[in-house]
Amino acid sequence: MRTAMLKPVLLLVALGFSSVSPTSSSPRGSSDAAPLQHRRALQRPRSKAHAAPSFCRNPEQDIEALSSPRDICRMTLFSSPYDMAGYFIKDLDFYRPAAQTDDGVSPVDFEQLAQRVQEGERLFSATSHEPMLKVQHASDGSQHLVSRQLPAQTADGPMDYTKLVNPFIGTGATSNPGNVFPGASVPFGMAKIGIDVDTYAPAGYNDDLQAPVRGMSILHDTGTGSSSGSFGNFETMPVICTDDDYQLCPTTLDNRKRMRAKGKDVAMPGYFSTTLNNSIKMEATSTRRAGLIRYTFPQSALDKQQAKSPHLVMDWTNDLPGTFKGGHMRLNPLEGRVIFNGTYGSSFASGLFQYNAYACYDLHAGGRQALGKFGVWAGDRFGEDTKLEGEVTSDLVRNTIGGQPVQAGALVSWKKTMNAGSDKQVLIRVGVSYVSPEQACANAEEEIPEFDFTKVVKQSQALWNEKLNRIQIANDTDPKIAQLFYTSLYRGFLSPNNATLEGQAQFLNTPSPYFDGLYCTWDTFRTFFPFLSLTSPHDYAEIVETYIDGWRKLGAIPECRANNVPGLTQGGSDGTNVLADFAVKYAKAGLPVDIEELYTALRSDAYTNAKEWNNGGRQIGAYVKYGYIPFAVYDRETTGRQTREGSRTLEYVYNDFGIRNVALMLGKQDDAQDLTKRSYFYKNVFDKNTKKFGFSNYVQKRYTNGTFAHVDPTTCSPIDPSNKPCSLQQENVYGVYETSSAEYSLFVPHDFAGLIRLLSNGDKEEFIKRVDNFFDRGLYYSGNEPSFQTPIVYTYANEPTRSVDRVRQVVFENFNTTNAGLPGNDDNGAMATLLNFHLLGLYPVPSTREYIIVSPFIPSYTLNNAVLGSVTVTARNFDKTSLKKTIPQGARAYVARVFINGEEQSSRCKILHEQLFPGGGKHTDVVFEMSANKAAANSCGPGGEKDLPSSLSTGGFDRF
Ligand SMILES: *[C@@H]1O[C@H](CO)[C@@H](O)[C@H](O)[C@H]1NC(C)=O
Ligand SMILES: *[C@@H]1O[C@H](CO)[C@@H](O)[C@H](O)[C@H]1NC(C)=O
Ligand SMILES: *[C@@H]1O[C@H](CO)[C@@H](O)[C@H](O)[C@H]1NC(C)=O
Ligand SMILES: *[C@@H]1O[C@H](CO)[C@@H](O)[C@H](O)[C@H]1NC(C)=O
Repeated sequence: MRTAMLKPVLLLVALGFSSVSPTSSSPRGSSDAAPLQHRRALQRPRSKAHAAPSFCRNPEQDIEALSSPRDICRMTLFSSPYDMAGYFIKDLDFYRPAAQTDDGVSPVDFEQLAQRVQEGERLFSATSHEPMLKVQHASDGSQHLVSRQLPAQTADGPMDYTKLVNPFIGTGATSNPGNVFPGASVPFGMAKIGIDVDTYAPAGYNDDLQAPVRGMSILHDTGTGSSSGSFGNFETMPVICTDDDYQLCPTTLDNRKRMRAKGKDVAMPGYFSTTLNNSIKMEATSTRRAGLIRYTFPQSALDKQQAKSPHLVMDWTNDLPGTFKGGHMRLNPLEGRVIFNGTYGSSFASGLFQYNAYACYDLHAGGRQALGKFGVWAGDRFGEDTKLEGEVTSDLVRNTIGGQPVQAGALVSWKKTMNAGSDKQVLIRVGVSYVSPEQACANAEEEIPEFDFTKVVKQSQALWNEKLNRIQIANDTDPKIAQLFYTSLYRGFLSPNNATLEGQAQFLNTPSPYFDGLYCTWDTFRTFFPFLSLTSPHDYAEIVETYIDGWRKLGAIPECRANNVPGLTQGGSDGTNVLADFAVKYAKAGLPVDIEELYTALRSDAYTNAKEWNNGGRQIGAYVKYGYIPFAVYDRETTGRQTREGSRTLEYVYNDFGIRNVALMLGKQDDAQDLTKRSYFYKNVFDKNTKKFGFSNYVQKRYTNGTFAHVDPTTCSPIDPSNKPCSLQQENVYGVYETSSAEYSLFVPHDFAGLIRLLSNGDKEEFIKRVDNFFDRGLYYSGNEPSFQTPIVYTYANEPTRSVDRVRQVVFENFNTTNAGLPGNDDNGAMATLLNFHLLGLYPVPSTREYIIVSPFIPSYTLNNAVLGSVTVTARNFDKTSLKKTIPQGARAYVARVFINGEEQSSRCKILHEQLFPGGGKHTDVVFEMSANKAAANSCGPGGEKDLPSSLSTGGFDRF
């Protein structure tokens, strides 16, 4: 999704979700006045901050523990310059005096520190007994060395690839943020534990140190761009209450939120920690549905407020989007157990759908801790700030007046804590469930029977290493590339969220696997699922079964399930392409998916006119009747947002193509024939009279009478100066969704031969000119999914070396190992898996078994597939000097010859899934022979047309 650029509040209001009024975002701390402008300003803190080093010049932020601006500057200084190196270098002189006069903190050689930052060396942030990631930082957005070589293989175990994972990549508070979740999670974890900051941060976190922390919460999505966040339920926030006075405890969001200390956010797979500016440390680790959270209160911080006891604010009602609709809360002081039961609105269409969530907190750490004071609190932003000490329950229902739900929860202190040196430490266990509070408690007891933080971290790491070892790369891989690769691989397994046994409503007690956060399939069908198909057949099968079960129970294949409920459809019904991709690769692999039933779901999608296709299914009637989705049609049978006619048609066509492939495979000849016909409907939305930049034939919306309605093809492109509503808004009258017609006019992945005939009468040179023009004029929008395939389309015009050049450029311009290292929302690993395909030198054609060969960034790698076997791909004569945005003359960047098990192939442009994995556990050796001779490598091979990647209209994809 491109929702960072989609004016979120406006969108939802425009959609008529009246309960999502602008003020409903204010629990996140934004001011009630002009929330839209406020939020948009918050999305661009980085550039603002660079202009004015606000930490030292704007000391009124809630850093009340420090006494003067000078102290604040000092605090800034004595933290490691985590992603703030820009400030450090630039503002060196500004900070220096504070540094030199410090006496209370361990001495820092400031010159040396600055030097190290410039060199990009990673700082260590370590404690005696916990594993910590060296914090990644960068001063100028460039890539930095991570480690000189890959981690060594231990004698008896898998490689520890977690060392190459930097969870902070994609957490930068940029103008087009990645919105990556950097907190603790196991692979596909339902529990995702991390801090929530009070700014635009849909995954809870971002690295803007001007954004205060409101608590640590246990449910999150990753990489999504929803307007005001997703989940964030059941925050806990460690606080110190002056004189241990219960009534003085800061409990409401505004009162309790607090800045982080600079440079103290650290993370690695399975572990996350931050430290607040009052030195309280917050740490988390997790299992699938449970976690341990540890808070360390330094004695000095307690002393400063004449306090003896750590206090904890437990928040029941404030999820990130502020959607609480009622529930029940109960505290058992004897057991030290707090349970929360709540109903909330989903993040992507919260006025429409709601879900239940339950948490169970254990506060006694198996008897090693004991509660002191306890009670409940409530508050709002208009004067209520109440604590009822000794009370243990609360029941609330939905408040029907006003956009702001009440803030409420529990407030506890400990009289007995664990000690960490002279500091006080509390360890709390949390279980989470979508079924019941009892199940939340059972999940915690089952998954974390002992209160052993380090053990849970290690278990999580082991689970991660099992996933990460599915791809092994050569030990002489460029360290930056290795870090990019394993970090992306990590994010490729971070979501969707495995909520098996936690289904609710129709999915309660479903015997199928159940995954949440399919958010949205529009994002993930292109690269996420094809990437999963390389190494992870069992995981893939479970998720596919989830999609099928969604159709069984709701009548539509899920498109954008988030928070356990349907979300808004962006284009087609792209789950069809996920099911088709799985079926064509794994139908015969003996996995527990009934392929006939899978096809029944697909067929129903292809032939059912969904009554309401905003939340699943398609507007099939009109589409089939006209051969395109018409503009300004009175569709009397179905309902949905009647926009995006051009791009929706293209996606419907691609959905149909995927379904066709499965029909063909299963011998359903009639369906296959019909859907083959529909696979050519793309032609019906190209208007040859639309001209731009000397090229003609662009996708346009079209009336029912066949006339096209003209829109400039650069509308909604990056060069469109007018910030138009190009998303789901009704005002989007441009016929396309979230990118330009110019870009969509290159999106016919299954029939480029037909497209090239359409656009340039089959003249490949002319087509290439058009694609070059597209890039040269800045029409390419790297931050969003419709662009994923664009850089490799040259290969279809028989000029594969141009795809190689373009992919190098796109990767080095848009991806790096800094926090800002993503060009847009990661979208549940969509971006991560796009990057990884590029690094492997392959690009998938979803719903088929074909991959386009480009040029690896990694000298050799092995893909391990537990069902099919393994394949080692070696780039023979790999040349690391080719790893540049612009490939230098003489660098061996181009694939000249392709060998499979020693046998030379005719085509150097495509390779099939069954060539990589013939099955039966066999090992395959693939060699790409790299060459600097661009001219010689610049065709798909001696076989002419048959060496080109497949196209439907030239006889490709004829068998599955
Ligand atoms: C959650 O709390 C509400 C309100 O007290 C109650 O009606 C409902 O039964 C509870 N649900 C569960 C699963 O405990
Ligand atoms: C890298 O791999 C090669 C070949 O497998 C091996 O001989 C070499 O020792 C490895 N180097 C390191 C530093 O692990
Ligand atoms: C999801 O969770 C279930 C229940 O624990 C487990 O059996 C399954 O293997 C998990 N799936 C994945 C892909 O992790
Ligand atoms: C088709 O309908 C549109 C919208 O009503 C109209 O502007 C156009 O002139 C019509 N075209 C023809 C050929 O009648």
